Amino acid sequence: MTDPQPFKIEVASRVERLPSYLFGRINALMYQKRRAGSDVIDMGMGNPSDPPADEVIDKLVEAARDPDNHGYIQSIGILNLRREVASKYVRRHGVRLDPESQVVVCLGSKEGFSHMCLALMGPGDTAIVPSPSYPAHVYGVALASGNVIALEVADSEKFLSNIAYVCQHLYPKPKLVVLNYPHNPSAVTVDPEFFVEVVKLARRYGFMVLSDLAYGDIGFEGYQPPSFLSAPGALDLGVEFTTMSKGYNMAGWRVGFACGNAEMLKALSTVKAYYDYGMFLPIQVAAIVALRHTDAAVEAQSQIYEGRRNVLCDGLKRLGWDITVPRAGMFVWAKIPPRWTRQMDSVQLAMKLLEEGDVVVSPGGGFGAAGEGYLRMSLVENENRLRQALRQIGRCLGPEPNAGVQPPRMEGMPSPPVESPIPQNDPG
Ligand SMILES: Cc1ncc(COP(=O)(O)O)c(C=O)c1O
Repeated sequence: MTDPQPFKIEVASRVERLPSYLFGRINALMYQKRRAGSDVIDMGMGNPSDPPADEVIDKLVEAARDPDNHGYIQSIGILNLRREVASKYVRRHGVRLDPESQVVVCLGSKEGFSHMCLALMGPGDTAIVPSPSYPAHVYGVALASGNVIALEVADSEKFLSNIAYVCQHLYPKPKLVVLNYPHNPSAVTVDPEFFVEVVKLARRYGFMVLSDLAYGDIGFEGYQPPSFLSAPGALDLGVEFTTMSKGYNMAGWRVGFACGNAEMLKALSTVKAYYDYGMFLPIQVAAIVALRHTDAAVEAQSQIYEGRRNVLCDGLKRLGWDITVPRAGMFVWAKIPPRWTRQMDSVQLAMKLLEEGDVVVSPGGGFGAAGEGYLRMSLVENENRLRQALRQIGRCLGPEPNAGVQPPRMEGMPSPPVESPIPQNDPG
């Protein structure tokens, strides 16, 4: 019998249009090296390596033993968890939310963000996203058939004036503006007044706002990342996403929240009701314990990141790198020394660091062309491992000509080169 013709699978064009996984090569090499016995230090993904608080795990186990806790749950989450999220907003940001209509539980904030795009965007609609870009911000919009305009995030005033410019000149006007502070990957932060200006612009030009506050629990030296929802009028036109992945070390649990405008959240809930049956109840019960009882652990975790930030930034400066010290988040957005940008792009340099230095970093080019010239280094390894990584980077690349003469510089991002709307994949 002759073989039948191979069956041709035709996937949707929205899937075909997605770029190939740029970080795949780096990850494949990392696993290959680890299998061969190399001790590779991973500063690639923002995937916390510390565990959640003991009491949170204990509650998960206890709740999982209850035979009543294993059924389907409504997709917006249980009311007691939504109440706890509302309490945290009052405590931390002075924002009052109605847990019935202004809080939705998501399977991680990324799920919430993507489905919110699906709920709000369609063919012909445009969203403004920050650039360089966390990939889900671009592809959440693209998968919802929307168009993306990527605006440089480095200079916050310029970002605002560019939004106004696009709104004045684009027809139809943008429907949505995505904000992300502390920003991944560039670590840019803002003060509360910035959000007041955003609300004014949103009212003037009629766009909705999605604020991604994924790193809201991690601020340094007294800086507390502000909430968009604390701006007067924000609840009329925007939704903010928060997560337990970062500050609570619960990334694998997939617990995130969408809070804000009730109509936008209703649209999200409608979409979610068709896609998921809600989060495993024991996870929701344990998340309540985490939100209610572990503020001190979250603060301590933030201080751990601050210590790691100091080790990494000081070490890179000693090697002669021109480093902007971040005041929040889990990343150092390291400008590649000119000696290396003249020879290779960020992907090639990241590959060199892995091949010859046993250190994984995320190439800035993976976040779109505006990220070219930078490496993103995450703070998930402990201080000793970071010191080891610095020694390995030093051995691999050598010191820069100006090593040892760097004045310290706080945030105030230099403008990266020209941006492109399409980053290459999702390094987390
Ligand atoms: C800016 C930003 N938003 C959202 C997420 C995803 O968070 P979650 O685990 O809640 O889906 C990340 C994770 O890396 C992120 O960097």
